[in-house]
Amino acid sequence: MYMMGDFHRADESDRSLIMPVRQGVIDRQISGLRSRLDDAWQRHIGFPGTADVDHTALADLLTRYALNNIGDPFSPGAVPNHTRAFEVQVLDLAAELFRAPDGGWWGCVTSGSSEGTLLGLRNARRIFPEAVVVHSACAHYSVTKAADLLAMPTAKVPATRRGEMDYHALSGVLSQHRHRRPVIVATIGTTMTEAIDDLRRITAVCDRLGIGASDRYIHADAALSGIPLAVAPLPGNPGFDLADGADSITTSGHKFLSTLMPSGIYLSRNPHDGHGPHVDYLASHDTTISGSRSGHLPLLLWHALARHGVDGLRRRAESARARAAYAHSRLLEIGWPSWRHEHAFTVVLRRPPHELAERWALPSSDDWSHLICMPGVSTSQVDAFIESLRLSRAMPATAGVQ
Ligand SMILES: Cc1ncc(COP(=O)(O)O)c(C=O)c1O
Repeated sequence: MYMMGDFHRADESDRSLIMPVRQGVIDRQISGLRSRLDDAWQRHIGFPGTADVDHTALADLLTRYALNNIGDPFSPGAVPNHTRAFEVQVLDLAAELFRAPDGGWWGCVTSGSSEGTLLGLRNARRIFPEAVVVHSACAHYSVTKAADLLAMPTAKVPATRRGEMDYHALSGVLSQHRHRRPVIVATIGTTMTEAIDDLRRITAVCDRLGIGASDRYIHADAALSGIPLAVAPLPGNPGFDLADGADSITTSGHKFLSTLMPSGIYLSRNPHDGHGPHVDYLASHDTTISGSRSGHLPLLLWHALARHGVDGLRRRAESARARAAYAHSRLLEIGWPSWRHEHAFTVVLRRPPHELAERWALPSSDDWSHLICMPGVSTSQVDAFIESLRLSRAMPATAGVQ
């Protein structure tokens, strides 16, 4: 009989843990895992995780200390083994990068953008209990999941072929739902094409319909592109942050900032999001989704930010974009249909043959796949992939670039 997890059991952890495992066996299993990861990482160009920041300076803290930032990041709290001062430094920089209003914002470090979106929609529902969540067809699945958890109705707006919200269609959807306040989720870097839903265009549509700033809530899901767009804007950059009209924004730390473990930053322009029931035994307020929260993640985020500084982050974003432009030019050279948004690390390409897409772990949807030139992806990795694609000789069925 098939049991969930059989795949993993047949992999490196094929032993029962009912009895203690001998050290030799533990060592073998760890080294088997390391070999598999090292091998897979050589072809890691399909997903946006990065591991190029050297966090060795934190090794002692990460491996020997139990750290827990339980409660609100801004309360001193009763639990001494926390890293709140580092969390607050991370939030301060995020507030600057995402242009939060002076002196009036709240935020926390999360387990990832999915949790940030859940928090954003929860905070929106406190203001508008009867709201409808409006999102594009290319929004991440975490948006509908959060709406489902919060029992909020949703309305889907079609997206363009390049993955951006169709603003004309947005106007139609908002008009149809005039009886409810809209909580609009804008995606700042869609999962498949890294398209940006432009907040300036979204707010203009709302304004035209008479839905003013106090009658709407906008959450920016900036999982991938939030920090790169903040530090390395391009001419004509779309609006994406709190100054452009977002009420809250979330970004992931394990993507551009290379925190190794899934992490995120959530920021809201509403200081009241930092108000919650007081929990006396914690000497803190309950303002976050999780109770216990990682104290290790704020350290990793702080370390990635501190090592690079804003200039270093900008160089990182620019060189990743340059690598993506290179990958795109190489694909065109071999005649493989492909395209990319100018700001993007993502290069969209016609779906390669199945075995190749599987070997290089390239996600596909309909006829298209993508590769992502995150910091740490090298020219030789790009070249190796494109050479395998060239040798596969199986040109995609439908030629032509969008
Ligand atoms: C647009 C978008 N939003 C949200 C997420 C989820 O982020 P996380 O994995 O940090 O929860 C992703 C993940 O890839 C994403 O692409």
